[in-house]
Amino acid sequence: MKTRSLWQDTKTFFPLFSAELERRRVKTVCVVGASDGKFVIPLAEHGYRVLAIERDPQAVHGGPVTLPGHVPGDMLGLRRRLDIERVAANVDIIEADLLEQDVLPTCDAVWTSCSWHYSVNHRRPLADFIGRLHALCAPTGILGAEYMMPVRTRHTTIEHYLEKGEIRRYFERWRLLWEAYTPTFVEDPHVEKLKPHIHRMGFVVAERA
Ligand SMILES: C[S@@+](CC[C@H](N)C(=O)[O-])C[C@H]1O[C@@H](n2cnc3c(N)ncnc32)[C@H](O)[C@@H]1O
Repeated sequence: MKTRSLWQDTKTFFPLFSAELERRRVKTVCVVGASDGKFVIPLAEHGYRVLAIERDPQAVHGGPVTLPGHVPGDMLGLRRRLDIERVAANVDIIEADLLEQDVLPTCDAVWTSCSWHYSVNHRRPLADFIGRLHALCAPTGILGAEYMMPVRTRHTTIEHYLEKGEIRRYFERWRLLWEAYTPTFVEDPHVEKLKPHIHRMGFVVAERA
């Protein structure tokens, strides 16, 4: 790969989800909160048809950003990265807020990485966001999500930071193939979080029961 995502080094359960994709006859994958393509590009390179949903114009089109060390930098953005990596033909982009989309296509697999805790989503119940992930997922498809768990007192008052086990409430008619949790860990500085910071992450992969 010639380019790098600005999120490239953040910790992820994605390899476990990717292995589930390879075990199935998956052709189409939707990435919700696609940002600058950390997951979209490897999926497209693998040969999947990818639907990328992203609400942030800068993530899609690129622009100036502040990097760790308060260094001014440039985000290439999803569209330019797709062109440079020569996979644009495999990717459709919906540049919009998932919560504003009432009619959605379906894909064989749906993936989202640390997207629903964004404050822009707090205006609506978490069930609205996860309900749209369900709607995107074909009846025989799989849905994978990694998400932030509470590490600060204020997080405990926001339902979008789920405690251990709470994810099950949103997947009552689904079979959980993976349910995993990290302990607290230190994430290195990256775009949007310029100092070392603490996270706790949950991970789920599910198919309809
Ligand atoms: C943590 S970032 C993504 C970094 C991640 N590691 C990756 O590249 O997939 C989460 C992304 O989700 C997007 N996002 C959050 N809420 C969204 C929504 N309601 N609709 C569309 N995109 C959303 C944000 O704009 C952000 O780009």
